[in-house]
Amino acid sequence: MKVRVLITGGAGFIGSHVVRLFVKKYPNYKIFNLDALTYAGNLSNLKDIEEEANYTFIKGDINDEAFISEIFQTHRFEGVIHLAAESHVDRSIKDPLAFVKTNIIGTLNLLNAFKDLWKDNFEGKRFYHISTDEVYGTLGETGLFTESTSYDPNSPYSASKASSDHFVRAYSETYGLPYVITNCSNNYGENQFPEKLIPLFINNIIHNKPLPVYGDGNYTRDWLYVKDHAIAIDLVYHKGLNEETYNIGGFNEWKNIDLVKLLCEQMDSKLGRKKGTSEKLITYVKDRPGHDLRYAIDASKIKNELGWQPSVTFEQGLEKTIEWYLNNKEWLDDVTSGEYQSYYENHYNK
Ligand code: NAD
Ligand code: DAU
Repeated sequence: MKVRVLITGGAGFIGSHVVRLFVKKYPNYKIFNLDALTYAGNLSNLKDIEEEANYTFIKGDINDEAFISEIFQTHRFEGVIHLAAESHVDRSIKDPLAFVKTNIIGTLNLLNAFKDLWKDNFEGKRFYHISTDEVYGTLGETGLFTESTSYDPNSPYSASKASSDHFVRAYSETYGLPYVITNCSNNYGENQFPEKLIPLFINNIIHNKPLPVYGDGNYTRDWLYVKDHAIAIDLVYHKGLNEETYNIGGFNEWKNIDLVKLLCEQMDSKLGRKKGTSEKLITYVKDRPGHDLRYAIDASKIKNELGWQPSVTFEQGLEKTIEWYLNNKEWLDDVTSGEYQSYYENHYNK
């Protein structure tokens, strides 16, 4: 039994949903959440479970090699679910080195600590690396990413994630380290930091601010509700096969501009505003450099082999998401004060 489980990045968006699911579902596990609490990490995401007996928070940086080695020796984690990362493409364009440090070196520190602890007997141990569909690069108008699609990353973010995936596989080949990797499409849902498309636009609609659509808005993403991703992660952690990769996606492609129009419509209805009010905020702005045209996942492997599929439609998931942000204005105000304002000014108003 893999009972001492380290979840990295558990104070972030996806990580907090994974931590909650594991803490609630597995009372016999000891769940350790390691997070540096960067701008993207927020312990208030986990308020409801922070007192649980099977939960421990460790504040720390995966870039700190000695510290990582020490906590592995102390707590002897049998399983690792690694989500900690710099995750925003636009920030990676401004500061690629931060992404190399956390996403590559940080992952290596975890791999080394895990290897050093268990190298004499990896039996029953598991290193689960959470990755992204962006490692596959971009699709044209047709086709889907499968697990055998070649890597072809285009942004500093996706190049750093691709590199970390390669290191995980290399540690298996070289040292026999048991791993699984999942590559997931765009997540949305509760607790997402409002630098990503959906929460940023929800926040701007609330405040009647322009909605900055990059380029012509005809870029396509495959959207998955975050709680369905957490369910998939639980399944892969327990039932996935070693040395396997699983793609996770929402079977749910949207062109950005169509998604934004749907969001505007739902927001108008929730806010009691006249239909068409929020759409007037749409503003086309300078494109993201190296902007990938289209991502779309073929998730048939995880569906056929592990029996996973999304539980909510996009319309349902989006409605839950909007309701959460409207009911958690304090959370939103809190994370959009301070550093967020200078990030926003610098990125959108320069
Ligand atoms: P996020 O930015 O919301 O959270 C990242 C978390 O990692 C934060 O809590 C942050 O404090 C922590 N962290 C960052 N640097 C750290 C460091 N050096 N040491 C310790 N902790 C650190 O990210 P997210 O959107 O929840 O993504 C989680 C993972 O899932 C990432 O690996 C990302 O690449 C991957 N992923 C994300 C998406 C998506 O749509 N958000 C899709 C596919 C894969
Ligand atoms: O595909 C998985 C990836 O999805 C994850 O690995 C990343 O961590 C996550 O950030 C996300 O990357 P994207 O770049 O696709 O997400 P983002 O929300 O930044 O952008 C989604 C689309 O919306 C993209 O085509 C860019 C566009 N966009 C985004 C922002 C922030 C805009 O048009 N305007 C914006 O202001």
